[in-house]
Amino acid sequence: MARKKIALIGAGNIGGTLAHLAAQKELGDIVLFDIAEGVPQGKALDLSQCGPVEGFDASITGTNDYADIAGADVVIVTAGVPRKPGMSRDDLLGINLKVMKAVGEGLKQYAPDAFVICITNPLDAMVWALREFSGLPHNKVVGMAGVLDSARFSTFLAWEFGVSVRDVNTFVLGGHGDTMVPVVQYSTVNGIPVPDLIKMGLSTQEKIDAIVQRTRSGGGEIVGLLKTGSAFYAPAASAIAMAEAYLNDQKRILPVAAYVDGQYGVDGLYVGVPAMIGAEGIEKVIEIELDAEAKANLQVSVDAVKELL
Ligand code: LMR
Repeated sequence: MARKKIALIGAGNIGGTLAHLAAQKELGDIVLFDIAEGVPQGKALDLSQCGPVEGFDASITGTNDYADIAGADVVIVTAGVPRKPGMSRDDLLGINLKVMKAVGEGLKQYAPDAFVICITNPLDAMVWALREFSGLPHNKVVGMAGVLDSARFSTFLAWEFGVSVRDVNTFVLGGHGDTMVPVVQYSTVNGIPVPDLIKMGLSTQEKIDAIVQRTRSGGGEIVGLLKTGSAFYAPAASAIAMAEAYLNDQKRILPVAAYVDGQYGVDGLYVGVPAMIGAEGIEKVIEIELDAEAKANLQVSVDAVKELL
């Protein structure tokens, strides 16, 4: 069987972490692209030299030429600039839109059959732009946000209940901004819904509300701590989980920024929803019954995404 090809557009902190994870998991041959001369080449060389120590066998190359992503099976886009303390993700709209134009054109020319995962912010608008500029089918272009936001929500809930993160299942809907919607109704510890755990006296509504709020501002919390950039380990891990779901036809149901056309009362917009990822890309958007509060919050979040387009 031919080896798969993974192209990573952007060789910053997330790009480097993506390359390392993809190599450790031997997902395929890795091409790290960046416009900065020497940076992708240097990171690729450094990572290649991890192989003998860590025991992975992966080809990792760095490039400044889009032609080298030709035939990629998966492309993960992190190109653009991250926000700094005091900025919102939306402040990056103008500058990163120009970057998505160049990336989209590169995809159109060299990787029209790829499954494309966008990480660049403001996420929901950037994935929309990448789809427009690349002309790829909607089911093959998706944004990484809900997996990350849900991972944050799950982490905080595991700490609150004093349980393993493995037993916590959550998802976050809506845009990847301050209006995102962590859905308490469907969040569980080993199948037990969080509202039931509150009734059992294992937490309080106030504490869960505070966790919901911390999840919403989870990216900003890390930006505030790092001061010179944004989160990269968990974003990279989240995108790799999505890439694996596609490459291995896992049919995973993951919260992602998918193209929604009719479901949840949303027409023709990229926004965070649970979706099935398999060999066809986004194979299905899953529409779940939401309580009145989550429904209203989702509408606010969808409106915030629309305002950017
Ligand atoms: C995140 O959520 O960590 C990313 O969207 C980066 C950011 O600016 O918050």
